[in-house]
Amino acid sequence: MPTAEPSARITSESQLQFWNSQDTLGQYSRPAFLFPSELPLLGLLRDRWPQVRMLDVGVGAGRTSLYFAALCGSCVGIDFAPEMIEVCKKRFAGRWPGAEFAVGDASDLKGHADGSYDLVLFSFNGIDCMPHEQRLRALAELKRVCKPGGHVVFSSHNAYRIPIIPRFEFQRHPMRLLEEFRRWWLVQRRNLPLKEVMTRTHVEYCDGNIGANRHMFVRPEAQVEELKQLGLEVFALYASDGRSLPKEEDARDTSIPWVYYYCRRPRA
Ligand SMILES: C[S@@+](CC[C@H](N)C(=O)[O-])C[C@H]1O[C@@H](n2cnc3c(N)ncnc32)[C@H](O)[C@@H]1O
Repeated sequence: MPTAEPSARITSESQLQFWNSQDTLGQYSRPAFLFPSELPLLGLLRDRWPQVRMLDVGVGAGRTSLYFAALCGSCVGIDFAPEMIEVCKKRFAGRWPGAEFAVGDASDLKGHADGSYDLVLFSFNGIDCMPHEQRLRALAELKRVCKPGGHVVFSSHNAYRIPIIPRFEFQRHPMRLLEEFRRWWLVQRRNLPLKEVMTRTHVEYCDGNIGANRHMFVRPEAQVEELKQLGLEVFALYASDGRSLPKEEDARDTSIPWVYYYCRRPRA
């Protein structure tokens, strides 16, 4: 069995290299769509959409902004990968005057005033590209720029999924088989032993899906507690397939790759 490389931590450099690469840009330049776990967003602001100021953090190539820019009064998309922002600027040019894009780091939202957005979204697990301490700073920043009474919504990898990630999934197609072998190899090579990983509430783990990079996986009950400590009210959780999870314990399920956290910044 290959040995792990426990010293290879999440770093901004390795993340930037991945998110700025041509392959990744191609994969993320998809048409607008929402995941089932993002659909409840539509009901959240109902008839208020035309007045909504939205911050789309880790906007990538604009999957969600393409959708929300048509609904919101204004939509600001930021990403720490300059190449992603270039793609957004080209895709949106002349289409949605209310949409703006800029390079920015979620853990340091300087230039965005306190309480300036009705909705702050960090979609599709982008927050997990940061190690724990930076991720905590990012959550505090998302809350800071959100208006009292506004919403902070993000998704994160489910640590309860980890035990099944190292399994090799046989594929009939030779190219898929090769890809699966590469994924499996990375999982074996880049991670600490499963027994140790499973003792942690927050863990940097490589699932082989974003190259050789690791990202954070968090136990939902620990995430909810962390959000409460930060002063955010968590009012709904959804599994990636859109299933509502009325209790955090409902996410203790290997079939849920990631969880959406719907939070509100209390008014006072
Ligand atoms: C999985 S992609 C999601 C892209 C897009 N939100 C979507 O759902 O298609 C994660 C995005 O988060 C961005 N990202 C990672 N760390 C970030 C940070 N510290 N600040 C801002 N963006 C970040 C990456 O560059 C990448 O574009």
